[in-house]
Amino acid sequence: MFLFVSGIKVLCAFLSFFEGDCPKDWCVTGAIFNYTNQLMSASENSKSIVHYNLTEAIMFLSHYMGDIHQPLHEGFIGDLGGNKIKVHWYNHETNFHRVWDDMIIESALETYYNSSLPRMIQALQSKLKNGWSNDVPSWESCQLNQTACPNPYASESIDLACKYAYGNATAGTTLGDYYFVSRLPAVEKRLAQGGIRLAATLNRIYSTKSKLARV
Ligand SMILES: *[C@@H]1O[C@H](CO)[C@@H](O)[C@H](O)[C@H]1NC(C)=O
Ligand SMILES: *[C@@H]1O[C@H](CO)[C@@H](O)[C@H](O)[C@H]1NC(C)=O
Ligand SMILES: *[C@@H]1O[C@H](CO)[C@@H](O)[C@H](O)[C@H]1NC(C)=O
Ligand SMILES: *[C@@H]1O[C@H](CO)[C@@H](O)[C@H](O)[C@H]1NC(C)=O
Ligand SMILES: *[C@@H]1O[C@H](CO)[C@@H](O)[C@H](O)[C@H]1NC(C)=O
Repeated sequence: MFLFVSGIKVLCAFLSFFEGDCPKDWCVTGAIFNYTNQLMSASENSKSIVHYNLTEAIMFLSHYMGDIHQPLHEGFIGDLGGNKIKVHWYNHETNFHRVWDDMIIESALETYYNSSLPRMIQALQSKLKNGWSNDVPSWESCQLNQTACPNPYASESIDLACKYAYGNATAGTTLGDYYFVSRLPAVEKRLAQGGIRLAATLNRIYSTKSKLARV
């Protein structure tokens, strides 16, 4: 399926096996495998010398696990993930990528959580225990018992980008209450999924015979 965004044709699918989407693993899914493997190399054989900076590996793994859940981080090369689409967020001039990276979250913090990040986190944790609790096992699981499985996360993000993010958002639009209220649930769910999947991936890494656990 293709979608036209401000005259640019984008493909609504993540094709990790094709050069275009992930040339030589240079994309967010490749990076997640990369840093997972680095952490695994330390935990699999406790006698081997660790060649990587594991502090950086865990920082990058966390960073990219967040990115891959942000719909506009997935591969829309044509418009640079929405960076080229200028829009207004209420009366603030910005671009479409920043709306999804920052603006929706910042507006939610101000509108619902008195600008308190701990309160927003608490609200997400409570949704994880209640509304989303039945979904959590499927969010955590990895096909074929892999340690990391980022490809489906990327597909989900592209799907969301095509279904929700780009709908009604063409260059020059002003996005306000309608867009905010209708998209916030998707943003909150992606934040929760990203957190759960990072935790599950780290648990799989550290539950192999680990010297990391003792450091
Ligand atoms: C993998 O990690 C190394 C750092 O240890 C980095 O130099 C390289 O660019 C990374 N590759 C990918 C595809 O993320
Ligand atoms: C590993 O990376 C961290 C964060 O960038 C840095 O502070 C630390 O000095 C690095 N350790 C080594 C041994 O290079
Ligand atoms: C909201 O935050 C401000 C300052 O951070 C604080 O003074 C105020 O009491 C808070 N309001 C509520 C309802 O928590
Ligand atoms: C995954 O691991 C479980 C438990 O170790 C095993 O029973 C199952 O057969 C494995 N599934 C696959 C697809 O490898
Ligand atoms: C676009 O906005 C209109 C109302 O302005 C709404 O009815 C429609 O559902 C929106 N489409 C999407 C994909 O959000």
